[in-house]
Amino acid sequence: MAKIFIIGATGGVGHRLWPMLVEAGHEVAGLHRKPEQAEELKSAGIRPVEGDLMQITAKEMQAAIEGSDIVVFSAGAAGSGVERTSEIDGQGPVKLIEACKAAGISRAYLVSAFPEAGRGGELKEGFEHYMKVKKEADAALVASGLDWVILRPGTLLHEDGDGQVSAGLALTYGSVARGNVAAVLAELIDTPEICHELIELTDGDTPVAEAVKALIR
Ligand SMILES: NC(=O)c1ccc[n+]([C@@H]2O[C@H](COP(=O)([O-])OP(=O)(O)OC[C@H]3O[C@@H](n4cnc5c(N)ncnc54)[C@H](OP(=O)(O)O)[C@@H]3O)[C@@H](O)[C@H]2O)c1
Repeated sequence: MAKIFIIGATGGVGHRLWPMLVEAGHEVAGLHRKPEQAEELKSAGIRPVEGDLMQITAKEMQAAIEGSDIVVFSAGAAGSGVERTSEIDGQGPVKLIEACKAAGISRAYLVSAFPEAGRGGELKEGFEHYMKVKKEADAALVASGLDWVILRPGTLLHEDGDGQVSAGLALTYGSVARGNVAAVLAELIDTPEICHELIELTDGDTPVAEAVKALIR
């Protein structure tokens, strides 16, 4: 059993992840920004911590995650503008890294983006900026000295998924159900020997547990 803190607990991936972690016997806490989200989390046995990534400092984040064994970052600005993208997708993980170091937490899981996202489409400034800050966050985590895993899913689908994925160091681009992303995160968390890996993820035809096991070196 581990104590796990999710940033982005109320998101498409996050709200599918915590039931899986609770089911696996973990103790889960999560950051939420709207007061009304606390009740749902609490009634599911999740410890809610209110905070807004646009304002939170690394010190406040440290206080939020203190006592956790593992942190998961799956928050995102979801196309709400360049400034919010910089602060949430970019600075969010950077503050988390600082908070983890100060709190003595070593294991961190980051949901990033598939590098080939948007290829062949019209170049849009907001999307280019999103991909740039996602990559900067990846680079900061890789350089952090923490025990990190970075997951790079393809285009996210609003579905629970069928538990069948492709996961690997390099894949051709595709989409992936948010539920499958959550299931892979949960499986990775229970497979601590997978560490310091950048993993690309799409829907596929391998059961999640098998796909994750195949990533053990
Ligand atoms: N969309 C795609 O195709 C795609 C592809 C690859 C990777 N990704 C990445 O995958 C991750 C998960 O995506 P998702 O679809 O689960 O995201 P989502 O449904 O948009 O959820 C985003 C989460 O971030 C939280 N959040 C947003 N702004 C916040 C703030 N200021 N303070 C605190 N929390 C805040 C949201 O809280 P609220 O509930 O309060 O909104 C929510 O919990 C993101 O990092 C995203 O960039 C997305």
